[in-house]
Amino acid sequence: MTWWRDAVVYQIYPRSFRDSDGDGVGDLEGIRRELDYLVWLGIDTLWLSPIYPSPMKDFGYDVANYVDVDRLFGSLEQFDSLIRDAHAKGLRILLDWVPNHSSSEHPWFLESRSSRTNSRRDWYVWRDAREDGSMPNNWVRAWGEGSTWTWDGASGQYYLHCFLDSQPDLNWANVDLRLAMHDTLRFWLDRGVDGFRMDVVHLLGKDLEVDDPDDLKVLSHVPLNDVPVTHEYLRGIRAVLDEYDNERVSVGEVYLMDPNRVATYYGRGDELHLSFNFASLYTAWSADAWRDLIAATEAAMNPADAWPTWVMSNHDNVRVATRLEDDDRRVRAAMTLLLTLRGTPFLYAGEELGLRDATIPPDCVVDPGGRDGCRSPLPWDLDEPHGWPATPWLPFVEDASRFSVQAQRGERDSMLHFTKTLLDLRRRDDALRRGDTEDLMASDGVLRFIRNHEGRRVMVVVNFSDVHAEVAVKGRLLLSSAGGARAGRLAPGEAQVIEL
Ligand code: GLC
Repeated sequence: MTWWRDAVVYQIYPRSFRDSDGDGVGDLEGIRRELDYLVWLGIDTLWLSPIYPSPMKDFGYDVANYVDVDRLFGSLEQFDSLIRDAHAKGLRILLDWVPNHSSSEHPWFLESRSSRTNSRRDWYVWRDAREDGSMPNNWVRAWGEGSTWTWDGASGQYYLHCFLDSQPDLNWANVDLRLAMHDTLRFWLDRGVDGFRMDVVHLLGKDLEVDDPDDLKVLSHVPLNDVPVTHEYLRGIRAVLDEYDNERVSVGEVYLMDPNRVATYYGRGDELHLSFNFASLYTAWSADAWRDLIAATEAAMNPADAWPTWVMSNHDNVRVATRLEDDDRRVRAAMTLLLTLRGTPFLYAGEELGLRDATIPPDCVVDPGGRDGCRSPLPWDLDEPHGWPATPWLPFVEDASRFSVQAQRGERDSMLHFTKTLLDLRRRDDALRRGDTEDLMASDGVLRFIRNHEGRRVMVVVNFSDVHAEVAVKGRLLLSSAGGARAGRLAPGEAQVIEL
């Protein structure tokens, strides 16, 4: 079995995890010091959001150098120590690779914009104005306002940016650009990274002939989504990973809501190893809606080469606990689903604590995309400043003491211990990690399915409703999210894992 199918990935947003040097921003050394916590918790793979030098207009997703570490986070030497120590403790590390765009401060872009004849001009996407001087088309950039085109007066053309004007899109149609980007992967693979989460990879291919569509509001850069040539670029990227031993893995951010479209990004085992399936972030909390999503995912990604992933929270979206209106029963049930569905789960740091989004006062807002709430710092200690040596870059969640690691480690019944128990159960149980999904059904607000691996059958039952529920089942209760004692008898909001 390939390791990444068995893995549980834990996303660290480095700015918000652990600050070792007292500048209010988390760093690599902070992560290194908490490796034992992560081993204790029971995850096995870390994904670090970008750590590269960056002007931080998009907090690191605007990369000014793909092959170094921003001083804010530390140094290459500290990165090497982190990898070494992580591997020694049995943890793998994935970096976040941002191939669709760089920062406008990247030397490649400075060269590209310097003149129309520069040898790197074509590494970015440049277009003439229309005859009347207007933009090449009406595409709208991410986060709602403004065009994807910005005029460069000096060289007299527009450049394309799906995101901020300080994030010009790279031109993957240019072979030299592709080779240069492949080398940035090799730089980190040579240093021992176990793979990459790949930012908005569905955008790599561009069809600039798509003009003035009507549905721009659905997702601002929708006309650029899902162009066939992207698959060719992904095969090139996969070939680089395949040059290395130990199965270096790619996890693509494919921001398409249809699992059937997402499934095409696995290719024939020659594109992405894994892809995000983001519909889970937007699925209503109801047994029927989850049955439909699981069924659609199973149909799109079964059996074949496409192994699903599951995610409830990340650095771009409202945290699951906030989405579920702070209802602890639901938050535990959601964690049960995340860790028992067929596929590789992705936990976002703090999810193990049931962390909510912080309320961000207007004068503390820093993100152009309005995502500060889910990026608020992890509270480590009970007492203020919660293990942060200086005031962190964003405010803590309200009631941070209650959510802190210290408080929850000391409480057997905490969300943290619940998550750890689930992770331990999953690690020991082949059915939960590898089993097929069978007998998926939802009725009267109760969802259930069976995971079956070579005859070992484990049932997962989730009561989405606000009333007690009974499921006729004979088996041994392995875990209840609500202290239940009888297999099949569920309190409102309770989830159970039952060995059949
Ligand atoms: C992805 C990242 C997001 C970033 C955007 C542009 O969606 O997850 O944080 O802002 O790409 O790089």
